[in-house]
Amino acid sequence: MEKFTLDLNGKTQQIEADPTSPLLWVLRDQLDLVGTKYGCGIGQCGACTVHIDGVAVRSCLLTVSQLEGKRITTIEGLSESGNHPLQEAWKEIDVPQCGYCQTGQIMTAAAFLNEIKKPSSEEIRDAMHNNICRCASYNKIEKAVQVAAERMS
Ligand code: FES
Ligand code: FES
Repeated sequence: MEKFTLDLNGKTQQIEADPTSPLLWVLRDQLDLVGTKYGCGIGQCGACTVHIDGVAVRSCLLTVSQLEGKRITTIEGLSESGNHPLQEAWKEIDVPQCGYCQTGQIMTAAAFLNEIKKPSSEEIRDAMHNNICRCASYNKIEKAVQVAAERMS
């Protein structure tokens, strides 16, 4: 075990962990930030997406030892009270079905909208296509991203 200092959701967080521990398990098992989900564990599904320095990444593939000095944001830190424009649009459009993939969808969309202010439908589909939804809520996801983009631009 080693000590690490993480910049997590705007706060400094001290942890002790095996340097090879994936961030996903540190978030969920040590820090009780269970909004980030485990889907495949091999970088294929997107359920575990968080932001590192504002970029959407898969927390199942990152070890804690890679993260000192980096700004980590999870779904719990995306907005103060669940009111990010994407979260509002998600609720209004009633996007989730089982809900399992939705954290990853929102975190991927949030990083995308920080880069592309007025995306086309094709750009949204392209940005989101690696986030798998077993319930196939893709049409609603695209609509919600479009609504949030309009409000954010
Ligand atoms: S759990 Fe990380 S990509 Fe699937
Ligand atoms: S809402 Fe069920 S997996 Fe996406």
